[in-house]
Amino acid sequence: MSSRPLKSGPDMPTCSRWIDVIDLLSRNEHFGVPYAAVMDAAVGRFMLARDNTPENWHDKSVMRALLRFEDLPKIRQRAGEETASILARERASRVPTIDVAGMISRAVPLCIVRETFGFQGGGLNDATILQWSKATQWAMFHNFERPDPTKMKEGIDAGQAMQRWIDGNWQLLVARAGNGADDTISRLMRVTAGGTTLLDRQQVVTNVCGLLVGAIETTSQAIVKVTDHILNNRNFGSAADAAILANDGSRFDGIVREALRFAPVSDVLLRFAKADTVIAPGTPRATAVKAGTPVKAEIRSAMFDPAVFPNPDTLDPARPRHLYLTLGFGPHECLGRMIGEEIVAETVRQLLTPPGVKLLPDSGSQIDFRDGPFPESFVLTLRPSIT
Ligand code: HEM
Repeated sequence: MSSRPLKSGPDMPTCSRWIDVIDLLSRNEHFGVPYAAVMDAAVGRFMLARDNTPENWHDKSVMRALLRFEDLPKIRQRAGEETASILARERASRVPTIDVAGMISRAVPLCIVRETFGFQGGGLNDATILQWSKATQWAMFHNFERPDPTKMKEGIDAGQAMQRWIDGNWQLLVARAGNGADDTISRLMRVTAGGTTLLDRQQVVTNVCGLLVGAIETTSQAIVKVTDHILNNRNFGSAADAAILANDGSRFDGIVREALRFAPVSDVLLRFAKADTVIAPGTPRATAVKAGTPVKAEIRSAMFDPAVFPNPDTLDPARPRHLYLTLGFGPHECLGRMIGEEIVAETVRQLLTPPGVKLLPDSGSQIDFRDGPFPESFVLTLRPSIT
């Protein structure tokens, strides 16, 4: 597979070469994110719907400062412990299979959302968090080309319920922050109370909502897709096994990044032209687009552009990390990219670590999306404990 040139015509204008995708995702003043209506209604004025604005610059800087690099080893360790404990429990009960989507891929980011981000207390339970997360993701990112009003309403209702939980438990969250809790919400409450963030109460609520909207379904999809890709491709499987055996964490993470290149969470990021402009300017592919036209950045195709990914069909865990587009690029690059990468890599590593998992016989392991956008079931053989 290699990247395809810019397409235009009756379909949405699309760019698929790496350099054209980079240009498009970098030019926020010309190409906007098309999610403002639903995001504003659900969670308020959120950074992803605010292109090229002081709000995006400011909110993202505040949230980045709170999601510290120094936390990553702890987050990774917690993701590993949670996965290992689910696997151990299932093995102890001698069940022969494990449903990765049903039992692990949401449960692991959920535990990070609860413990690291601080979504707990005030009557909140796991089922509610998962419902908010799925309904908002569906309405915001999977309801664009043929909008379903029911999904729109469910997403907006879920976002508003999330806002009510934060607003209604404000004093509890302030008290927790005052008692020195070190989760992301508590850090945000503390620095805001100290006058450092310049965020008002609604902006705090909206940024807290964004943590939850961004984290669970994306990470879950990545865990399922990476596991599926590694188990279904012998070169990936043997490379992953060898990296685990050699305890070579950075090689293993490179293999996971490559698996996400072949099987990303989204093949495409959407934008719309904010004014009459040109896609791929200054190249033979330059194409004029009118204001208001939706355009597609084909990130998957761009990651097969041989100009940037030599031998793109080959697994190469040593490719430079900054070239990958799985977590976006430019002003809207994923806020949680480091966290997402750590959770995905460690969860998959635990799944594959001996005794590990394998595909069911007779093509029995297929990702089941149950007519929705998210993996809902992916059943594998759970190899029994060696002892
Ligand atoms: C492997 C898991 C993840 C994947 C695949 C993923 C993917 C993405 C992508 C592709 C974008 C850019 C969207 C665009 O440009 O249209 C994005 C943005 C974003 N992500 Fe993630 N994400 C993941 C994990 C997370 C986590 C754990 C968080 C929580 C902190 C998060 C929060 C966000 C936010 C807030 C944005 C908007 C940033 C902005 O507008 O500046 N994501 N994500």
